[in-house]
Amino acid sequence: MKVPKHIAIIMDGNGRWAKAKGLPRTAGHKIGVEKVREIAIYANSIGVKCMTLYAFSTENWNRPEAEVNYLMSLPKIFFESYMKEIMKNNIRIMMIGDMDEIPDNARTVFKNAIEESKDNTGMILNFAVNYGGRREIVTAARKYAEDVKNGKINDIDEEGFKKYLYTSELPEVDLLIRTSYELRISNYLLYQLAYSEMVFTHTLWPDFKPSDLDLCIDEYNSRDRRFGGLNEEKTA
Ligand code: FPP
Repeated sequence: MKVPKHIAIIMDGNGRWAKAKGLPRTAGHKIGVEKVREIAIYANSIGVKCMTLYAFSTENWNRPEAEVNYLMSLPKIFFESYMKEIMKNNIRIMMIGDMDEIPDNARTVFKNAIEESKDNTGMILNFAVNYGGRREIVTAARKYAEDVKNGKINDIDEEGFKKYLYTSELPEVDLLIRTSYELRISNYLLYQLAYSEMVFTHTLWPDFKPSDLDLCIDEYNSRDRRFGGLNEEKTA
């Protein structure tokens, strides 16, 4: 079985999971945080190199203030509870998104975790926070254009453009997983998903288990990735 190098996940369904149990939406997010720990430790153990999790989108600010505040308190809860284990497992924390707009306390816990784990050589656990794919592309285009204008660069091409994206240091996304069977990508990694395989599972994120990740990887392995070309049998 081939393990995808980079898996991106849209962790959806926390609210529905809570509602089905007669609990407040925040209860779903709380279990969601525990799932981040479980899935990250497992993914690292099977050799995934990078996992990018959609923790908060640029559109999530439109939720009620109390829910936004709760979501912004999750990084602190997560790192206070699990940073020791993350270090023990050699996992490196990274973050993508517009850091400037997130509250100071959340920004600080991320910065500390990124700094503390920067020499770890296991899986990169990359959080997309205040992330929007369109914003990422526009920001990259603006910086690229400035560098061209200032004479730092004289040609514009795809390889050059990629260096301006938040993900410039990361491998290509091989597999996108979205839980809760919403069939859309919701402004996530718009540029990076160009050739990714996508798996949409009915499981809600708070119910997602290592065995569900295995099923998604099995599905990935059953796909015939051609990147727009032909596979070997078809070239004969
Ligand atoms: C989508 O479910 C989930 C989110 C918007 C938040 C996801 C965040 C986590 C699981 C925790 C992140 C962890 C850290 C450490 C930052 P939803 O609320 O849209 O669910 P619904 O569609 O059922 O309402």
